[in-house]
Amino acid sequence: MDLTFDLFTMERIMETNRNILIFDTTLRDGEQSPGCSMNLKEKLEVARMLRALKVDIIEAGFPIASPGDFEAVAAVAEEIRDIRIAGLARSMEKDIDAAGKALAKAAKPRIHVFCATSAIHRQYKLKRAKEEIVKMSVDGVKHARRYVQDVEFSCEDAARTEWDFLVEMVTAVIEAGASTVNIPDTVGYAIPAQYGELIAHLLAKVPNIGQTVISVHCHNDLGMAVANSLSAVKAGAGQVECTINGIGERAGNAAMEEIVMALRTRRDYFGADTGIDATKIYPASRLVSSITGLHVQRNKAVVGENAFAHEAGIHQHGMLSNRETYEIMRPADIGVPASRLVLGKHSGRHAFKERAEALGFSLSEEQINAVFEKFKALADKKKDVYDEDIEALIDEQMGGPSEVWVLKAVQSTAGSSAIPTATVTLEREGQSVTDAATGDGPVDAIYEAISRITGLRLNLVDYKLRALTGGKEAQGEVTIEVQQEGRTFRARGLSTDIVEASARAYLAAVNRILTATNGRKTETEQP
Ligand code: KIV
Ligand code: ZN
Repeated sequence: MDLTFDLFTMERIMETNRNILIFDTTLRDGEQSPGCSMNLKEKLEVARMLRALKVDIIEAGFPIASPGDFEAVAAVAEEIRDIRIAGLARSMEKDIDAAGKALAKAAKPRIHVFCATSAIHRQYKLKRAKEEIVKMSVDGVKHARRYVQDVEFSCEDAARTEWDFLVEMVTAVIEAGASTVNIPDTVGYAIPAQYGELIAHLLAKVPNIGQTVISVHCHNDLGMAVANSLSAVKAGAGQVECTINGIGERAGNAAMEEIVMALRTRRDYFGADTGIDATKIYPASRLVSSITGLHVQRNKAVVGENAFAHEAGIHQHGMLSNRETYEIMRPADIGVPASRLVLGKHSGRHAFKERAEALGFSLSEEQINAVFEKFKALADKKKDVYDEDIEALIDEQMGGPSEVWVLKAVQSTAGSSAIPTATVTLEREGQSVTDAATGDGPVDAIYEAISRITGLRLNLVDYKLRALTGGKEAQGEVTIEVQQEGRTFRARGLSTDIVEASARAYLAAVNRILTATNGRKTETEQP
């Protein structure tokens, strides 16, 4: 391969202290994971956490996709002033206009325009020739520049695009005014060494590359999203697009915590770092997991429950002599709390507030007061209140105003010789409605009664029950996944009584569906 770099690019690659920009897309690509939709309050809470993490760019949504996405981009842009906020748009005037309007009040706006470039997308999705794709993209960038100075352009499915055509595309969009050019591996097809070569090729062959930052955006279909992103950084990419816990379409996006800690831990190799405050990584992971209901696998790198657990005797022995024998990062580096503080019914508001903050939540006084009430009620039922309980209470509180139906009472009977029966009372706008039903079991009977009252019969595709913490008094957590008109919704319910937790989960799903129909995604193709 013939790689001839200009001086500027050469310096960029050789630099030993490069700052890699972190472009977080948890609120856009992450939210596209089935069942991961978040309401506005939840998105703002995640955005505040991203600010605490000190990410460089927050992609807050895809404004044309739904009124909910538009509103979220506008609200995040209005509140978060010190971080660049991006809104996504296809290379079409109506999309770019929507992004421009949603970002109108942003202090640091970025419009992120994309157009597919690979042969398969050109032929079957866009049905356009190469020249038309270049023109559409250039027009899109120019149109976006009417709204903002900072325009990013993404060559969708770049990893499967002919390299010479990519050189042509990247040159053209930089010429049109894109200050960041993204080379996504949209379908997770790339291999680290080859993807790194592609980035090096672009750096060597695109004549005006010195005017732009090369960004990478990798999906995890073959489990290589992080490896591909890191290989691209080594080759000279200056921005990485990623999500917390790696959530995202299909197998997800590159996980931010893995990228950040790999660069930091192996700075000797990469000669690069990010501006991320790593001590916020663990709280951020917990927050996103509790809001989306997507549990982090136990052995997940960096943030999994077992990431710092040492079981083998020989490892424990080594650790006692010197932690570094078996540990390349310390739990404190990523903000794992040093001790598991347990609160109880004698804990005051101050202790509760401090714990909520240590867990990464930034709540208003009003929110603290409301959650503290619930905390007291829970502490009356169970002796020890753990971090997981507090996170759950806060999460429930954040879903608040979207409660169209409120659970007032639930009662069910079951047994080997009884017909399972349930009676449920719900309230909507101050009116309470009671109904009873029978079912295959007590949970089925409850779901039947709720369906009769709300008029919504959901297609339940998954139901999981687990104890939130250890101990006999632990709260039961029910997580369900339902499908409604082709969309997936995930919801959870908590209670020290598992029958009530089941009812709460189902009702939370009903409420999510009822509130989501206002912000329903349009037929816009999701990238
Ligand atoms: O995966 C992808 O190609 C995308 C682009 C819109 C950046 O999400
Ligand atoms: Zn993507």
